[in-house]
Amino acid sequence: MKNRKPLMAANWKMNLSLGEAEDLFTRIKRAHIDFDTVDVLVAPPFTTLPLASRLLAGTDIHVAGQNMHWETKGAFTGEISPLMLKEVGCSHVILGHSERRRLFSETSEIINRKVDAAIEAGLVPIVCIGETLKEREGGKTFDIIRSQLHESLKMRGQPRNLSQGVILAYEPIWAIGTGKTATPEQAQEAHLFIRRWLRENFDNDLGEAMRIIYGGSVRPENIKDLMSQPDIDGALIGGASLRAESFLSIVRFYEG
Ligand code: PGA
Repeated sequence: MKNRKPLMAANWKMNLSLGEAEDLFTRIKRAHIDFDTVDVLVAPPFTTLPLASRLLAGTDIHVAGQNMHWETKGAFTGEISPLMLKEVGCSHVILGHSERRRLFSETSEIINRKVDAAIEAGLVPIVCIGETLKEREGGKTFDIIRSQLHESLKMRGQPRNLSQGVILAYEPIWAIGTGKTATPEQAQEAHLFIRRWLRENFDNDLGEAMRIIYGGSVRPENIKDLMSQPDIDGALIGGASLRAESFLSIVRFYEG
């Protein structure tokens, strides 16, 4: 039995209208979820965040941004600040998603700044890392993970208290939106590597306590096998989080 409480996090990406979002929030809200067993979070598009906060107020469902800028305000056209996310009811923020790294040129240095800014603002960052297919096939998976961990989490200035709540998401890029999930063993191997890195670079307690969730084609059909691995503490779910049935069946992996 793991001591870490599983987290099921929905990453809607750039999907769903306000009407569709309202319907999905309502279905999730009405569902019977055992919140003693699982934490649940939704990361809808920015325009949907106020609706999420309003509809999910008073529930145990957390709301997250999918990205943010590291500054609190200023001349950054098109950006959103940590304080704005807080103001609209977010408790978490996804940072360094591979789509941000690949399509919007976010470097680990940028992500590192964002991690600092999120913690400073009282948001829990969900930091994404993961290798491409080419890197995996070239035997570089662990080198990439190691350098992303180092770059994204390295301490700058004041030592930051990571145990206050940073969540790591291992998302092999070749498994995102492709229908190709990493096998539970491949995912476990990477998660264990990450946990060992945390133990060595921070301390044992932090390594034990930090949740490492898996992302990449998570479906109702594969969630149980993934969750049976000792170092997989939940999932970051893209495509399958856009429908109530599939998302809720992933959330309730603990049933039967
Ligand atoms: P997917 O996306 O579940 O559609 O593969 C996961 C993610 O990008 O977080």
